[in-house]
Amino acid sequence: METKVLHPDREDEIEYAGKLLREGNLVAIPTETVYGLAANALNGKAVKEIFAVKGRPSDNPLIVHISERDEILPLVKEVPEKAKRLMEAFWPGPLTIILKKTDIVPLETTGNLDTVAVRFPENEIARRVIKAAGVPLAAPSANLSGEPSPTEFKYVYEDLEGRVPAVIDGGDCAVGVESTVITLATEKPRLLRPGGITPEMIESVIGEIDIDKAVTEKMQQGAKVSSPGMKYKHYSPDCSIIIADVSFNEYVKLVNESDCDGALCFEGEEKYLTKKAVTYGKCYDGLSQAHRLFSALKELDEMGLKKVYARCPQKRGVGLAVYNRLIRSAGYSFYKNETKVIGLTGTTGSGKSTVCKELIDAGFSIIDCDKLTKSGIYEGECLEKLVNFFGKGIIDEKGELLRKNLAAAAFSTKENTLKLNEITHPYIMAKIKEEIENYKEKGARFIVLDAPTLFEAEADKLCTKIISVISDKELRLQRIIKRDGIDKALALKRISAQKDDSFYIERSDYVIKNDGDISALFESVQKAVAEITL
Ligand code: TXA
Ligand code: MG
Repeated sequence: METKVLHPDREDEIEYAGKLLREGNLVAIPTETVYGLAANALNGKAVKEIFAVKGRPSDNPLIVHISERDEILPLVKEVPEKAKRLMEAFWPGPLTIILKKTDIVPLETTGNLDTVAVRFPENEIARRVIKAAGVPLAAPSANLSGEPSPTEFKYVYEDLEGRVPAVIDGGDCAVGVESTVITLATEKPRLLRPGGITPEMIESVIGEIDIDKAVTEKMQQGAKVSSPGMKYKHYSPDCSIIIADVSFNEYVKLVNESDCDGALCFEGEEKYLTKKAVTYGKCYDGLSQAHRLFSALKELDEMGLKKVYARCPQKRGVGLAVYNRLIRSAGYSFYKNETKVIGLTGTTGSGKSTVCKELIDAGFSIIDCDKLTKSGIYEGECLEKLVNFFGKGIIDEKGELLRKNLAAAAFSTKENTLKLNEITHPYIMAKIKEEIENYKEKGARFIVLDAPTLFEAEADKLCTKIISVISDKELRLQRIIKRDGIDKALALKRISAQKDDSFYIERSDYVIKNDGDISALFESVQKAVAEITL
């Protein structure tokens, strides 16, 4: 079969795609998530063809794509209130909603289920094609079954050339991982697949949802699955991937010193590695990781790599979607170390010490970085550099540090705070590393690095996981005034010298929001502890 490449800027070619689809043929189309292999969703025979071309098991249902909100109405028995709110908030966009189906949706499309998954894509080309076809389109990702989903035209063409009559060249996909799938056909809304619309975003619209176990864990053989797609091998390159659930520093050592032949790391990290590396987005940036992941998996094979260690994404925000895909690509294989270093940070006055006490109770060993810095940092070479910058006013006549004067000078402006950090951090880091080694020798399994400037000092590179404590600004203000016995103006100054909440949220595996409800605080700490010690 000859495969035509269609160009979306030509209206007649979009019309042609529509005609092909209406008449029961397949066309690969771009969407904002990944490319889809589309057919008329209401034509069982056409849909069967999708399964044949992809080599997809016939019990794995397809998503039905529409080009206006109201086009969902004939497909489902009822649109419940929560579905309406989600449609209002996130459609068009990368969210798929599952509801009870009507009889016009053939069982071929839904893999024999009485529910149907519906999505209103944001991508303009996709919407124009659906409109041109005049029917809703069933479209799974346009890869051969089991392989990474295609997010660039060249990969779709490579896979499908000769197998379908037409492929539309829509460039690169914006999101890069498939849509979020949520079912509202159950009593409580349940997330079946994470994607660009995060659980946090959904909960802000419809309240608490369940997250299916299969999102983050391997299903046991024979277990009942809510979404058939979860039980199949998926996103697998030929290269074998092992997710390194370790700190960045440990990762560099692992890649450079083990028998792997490459790495799947974040941008900028490759310069520390002595093996071939493919990057997938930036550290602490789930969106950019999602955008790159599937192409990066393809590139591992193109480079002929056989075994790579991958950096572990966060399980929060869009990171959850990245994590969900990567654990499948890796066949759930992880590399972990005996000892984990947990970074604990957050804005001043948020209640970090309370969280720290909880972690001590849980048996974690603590390195108090503030205390460390007070002993044996501000002397010799380091003190000399500080005097050079902040002036002689920070030392007494014996040449010893006047702490209050340094604090006043250093916290007076953002620039000065930065400078203080820049000067002292190398010395502090050396001390921290020494302490970690001491604890390791004593057999500690979980070591907490309690550090207000964890990221600024780049001590996050020593951490396996990071916990941040944040809190409402007004509450923090009261706490700081009381704790440090300072006035409001000075307290405000300290707060504004720090980064805002979003800085900590983006960079953390666990965010603990402390708004005064102590039992809620304990609960979120316990949750983090349970996962970390698993
Ligand atoms: O972003 C996307 O959703 C892309 C683009 C092309 O729109 N499509 C896509 O389709 O990812 P596919 O077939 O690769 O994934 C559909 C997922 C599968 O895991 C399937 O099991 C699940 O949705 N699914 C579909 N209908 C379902 C239903 N009625 N009940 C439970 N799960 C369903
Ligand atoms: Mg797929």
